[in-house]
Amino acid sequence: MTTLNPRQYRWHDYVISSAFKCIRTVLELPYDKTLHARPNPAEQADASQLTPEEIKHSAALMRINHTGEICAQALYLGQSITARNNELRENFANAAKEESDHLSWCEQRITELGSHKSYLNPLWFTGSLLIGTCAGIVGDKWSLGFLAQTEQKVYEHLGAHLEKLPTTDYKSRAIVSVMQQEEAAHAKMAIHYGAEELPVIMKIGMQFLAKIMTNVVYYV
Ligand SMILES: [Fe+2]
Ligand SMILES: [Fe+2]
Repeated sequence: MTTLNPRQYRWHDYVISSAFKCIRTVLELPYDKTLHARPNPAEQADASQLTPEEIKHSAALMRINHTGEICAQALYLGQSITARNNELRENFANAAKEESDHLSWCEQRITELGSHKSYLNPLWFTGSLLIGTCAGIVGDKWSLGFLAQTEQKVYEHLGAHLEKLPTTDYKSRAIVSVMQQEEAAHAKMAIHYGAEELPVIMKIGMQFLAKIMTNVVYYV
């Protein structure tokens, strides 16, 4: 009888849980709260009275962040499947677990604000899965370069959201602050494992796609 090496087990386990994640995302089912390990940072933040305009604005920003996390799930899944290096795969899987918490926290906050997730999430998920898979196929150093660039941009984007969120929306701000710190750690991880600097044209293309996504998701 063959015994599974713990590393392999974790990897297979991750693929199975990711397959369920894909189904849930594409079918737009509510996120399974039992699958996230850490408490929501918003639980420690004060509740506040927001005006209807502030609620609408906060919900739209948190919808963008939720879609960003949907994309992160898909990118990490695609990159994990195609990574050549097992240690790297493990790190992708660990980062994806943190992204799962981000996804869940954003979803909870959108619900509390009485709004909806992006109706286009299945589209963003599928596109990001394709991009993540292609990045992984090109090779680990380029895949890591893509990841480092993405996480760095998400870090900057979340910083901009901390400027844009109503100052009294303590709960959304608590979530975004923790996410921002963890995205910075993901970028550092990618650089540590040998991320290659991407060509300028690719960086411009990524920024262009991110701009389209954020502008559309604010409303839809
Ligand atoms: Fe995240
Ligand atoms: Fe991240």
